[in-house]
Amino acid sequence: MLRIGVLASGRGSNFQAIIDEIEAGRINGKIEILIVDNPEAFAIERAKKHHIPFLYLNPKSFPSKEAFYEKIRDELIARSVELVVLAGFMRIVKKPLLDAFPNRIMNIHPALLPSFPGLHGQKQAVDYGVRISGCTVHFVDEGVDTGPIIIQAAVPVHPDDTEESLSKRILQLEHKIFPEAIRLYAEGKLKVEGRKVKILDYKLPQIYFTNPEIR
Ligand code: GAR
Repeated sequence: MLRIGVLASGRGSNFQAIIDEIEAGRINGKIEILIVDNPEAFAIERAKKHHIPFLYLNPKSFPSKEAFYEKIRDELIARSVELVVLAGFMRIVKKPLLDAFPNRIMNIHPALLPSFPGLHGQKQAVDYGVRISGCTVHFVDEGVDTGPIIIQAAVPVHPDDTEESLSKRILQLEHKIFPEAIRLYAEGKLKVEGRKVKILDYKLPQIYFTNPEIR
């Protein structure tokens, strides 16, 4: 059983999707801890409801970003976490954590990387005027949303879309591909080769599309 640590900053709907897949028996894993950088994060309520231990760490109470990530690293290691999942964690992960979990930190990003990295990926897509956007699950490296890509999913961008409407459409697929990537990891089916991820014995296409009629 894969020991998972989750980092989140807010609503936690992706965290919930992962909890649901574990509880349904589709991911052979256990969430050992939720760590949040925001005491108001709704993810905390979800952790309480599902009896998952949680920890709030205030980044401002640490002398440096490195010290903040050293603390996160130590908390994860203390619980023998094997995979770290960034579920709407709105910070750039720094070296102490990266070095402790090479190719063992996964992130969900609300755009088709390498387009629109960083914050507000959905707004960037709307503002740019692309016709297709989506979401990406990738391993985290030292760059901003640059690590090896595991799964992507695509959605249409409609001419009257707003950041909100596009975000909602993308989120539905985030909730599918993030748990799927974690399931594959838990089954030992992800192999990182350079900047590419090989998915072993994978029958499905490594990209998903919504029905273009779906608004
Ligand atoms: C999700 O859309 C996720 O892709 C995005 O934040 C949202 C969190 O929602 N993450 C990023 O933008 C990371 N840079 P959630 O808290 O309901 O899972």
